[in-house]
Formats: sequence, C-alpha cells, structure tokens
Amino acid sequence: MSSSSFEPRTDVDLSVPSAARAYDYFLGGAHNFAVDRAFADQVLQIAPSVPAVTKLNRSFLGRVVRFCLDQGIRQFLDLGSGIPTVGNVHEITQQVDLECRVVYVDYEPVAYAHARQLLAGNPFATIIQADIREPESILDHPETRRLLDFSEPVALLMVGVLLFISDDDQPGELVATYRRRLAPGSVVAISHIASEQAGAELQAEVARLVGAYAAADEHVYVRTHQEILGWFDEGMRLVEPGLVCLPDWRPESPPEQTNAARPLGYGGVAQVQ
Ligand SMILES: C[S@@+](CC[C@H](N)C(=O)[O-])C[C@H]1O[C@@H](n2cnc3c(N)ncnc32)[C@H](O)[C@@H]1O
Repeated sequence: MSSSSFEPRTDVDLSVPSAARAYDYFLGGAHNFAVDRAFADQVLQIAPSVPAVTKLNRSFLGRVVRFCLDQGIRQFLDLGSGIPTVGNVHEITQQVDLECRVVYVDYEPVAYAHARQLLAGNPFATIIQADIREPESILDHPETRRLLDFSEPVALLMVGVLLFISDDDQPGELVATYRRRLAPGSVVAISHIASEQAGAELQAEVARLVGAYAAADEHVYVRTHQEILGWFDEGMRLVEPGLVCLPDWRPESPPEQTNAARPLGYGGVAQVQ
C-alpha cells in the first residue's frame, strides 16, 4: 500500500487532463476545462464506448444505493465520489430518509470544491479531500467520525475508482483494510473495467484507452473478472447476482437500454459477515 502522505491540492493544473473531469464530461457535466475536453474528445475518437460505460457505471451506483437503503443501511462512505452530477448518493438517500449520513471522498480539487459548495449547510453529508490509498486518514478523519458510526452497518462504495489504483498499491488489500473496519451487515460495492469477455474490437479499444490515460493525471488499470472477484474476501459474501456486467446487477423496471459497451464494466456487492 502507498506510504506517501497525501497533500491536498487546491490548485488546478491546467496543463494536465484530469480523469475526474473527463468522467464529468462523458456524463454531460460542465465541471471540466479545455484541457479535459480535448483529452476526452481524443479518448472518444479511439475508444467510443467510454461514455456508454460511464453511464452504465453511474446507474449501477444508483441501484446499489437503493439496494442498501432497502437493507436498512443509513450510512454511506463513497470513495472516489467524483464531481457531483446527476444521481449523487446523498440525493438518493435523502429521498428515503433525510437523516442518512453520507461521507464523500475524492482527492481531485474540482470534485472536492464543487461537492463542498453543494453540501454547504447540509448537516448529514460532507466531503473529505483525501487519497483512498490512505484508509486511516479517511476512517479516522474528524468529519467521518462526526457522521459515521462504524459499530452500525455502513455502505462502502468503491464505484469506478479501483481502476485508478495500480497493482503496486494493492487494491485487494485496500478493500480488505476498509472492510475490517465495517460492522456485520455493512455492504461493500465495487465496479471496475474488465475486458476479457469482450470481443477483439472492444479489447483493442480498452488497450487504446489505457494508452491515452498515460497522459492524464491518473492511469487506468484493467483487471480480469477473477481478480476483481478475489477482492471480495472471506469476510464478505457476495449478494445475488454476484459480480456481473453492470446492467445485469439487479436491473430495475424498465431495464436499462444497453449497448456494445456492456461487456466492459462489472459490478458486485457483498455483505460483511
Ligand atoms: C470515474 S470517477 C467515479 C465517480 C463516481 N464514483 C461514479 O462512479 O460515478 C473516479 C473518481 O475517483 C477519484 N480518485 C481516483 N483515485 C483516487 C484516489 N487515490 N483517492 C481519491 N480519489 C481518487 C477521481 O478523482 C475521480 O473523481
């Protein structure tokens, strides 16, 4: 795991495209700069399936939050929460229970600043600017402690974020470190890119995508279904239907329209034992 100590960035480096802001652009958001849009447009040229995967990922997040609410969970820790956009976790939770607690975490300065502004005056939701590779700095953060009670179930959301964590930073160990702090009945949700079930054309797209992100502030790491499955360790039990293509995870009615990008994104949810 990373031993570096995270220094929050308040400045925005306009010479380097940001993966967080490119994601915002793919979702149709406005919190991105020329450097991000130029980068995202280049990605679109070489990997046109990307916006479709981001949308499938975002809908998966919404269904997971509703599942957790149905399970009675009222506390959410959203790691790599991104720039606020349609369907933010606290907006979904507060439709059901205004006092649900939500802690967002992101290290990208625009994501942090925008969420801070959005959440000003909200007593039940907050954002921390931190690096998820430093779990203690998040789990023991005063804002986390103020809002989340780890003796009660918490939903830990790692949606669309572990693909930015390198093998050297041991994503599986990272998941286990967070999971060990969760009470039984908590939930761990993960989504990720995996391309081995895709055809040759989509696999080539993913390879080009990985190459393009070498120029961004974060690199992309593709894993196999088996690798991601291994992160749901012995302390957790996957809920049905397991780790599946994003739109197949507990589809709602009417089912989401899917497309050629379908075999690129996987999602799964486990309950802590
Ligand atoms: C693709 S977006 C996903 C946003 C949201 N979770 C969703 O699924 O819609 C990934 C986010 O993770 C953040 N991120 C990546 N690595 C991170 C790290 N080590 N610590 C904190 N945030 C990180 C990025 O800044 C970005 O905002």
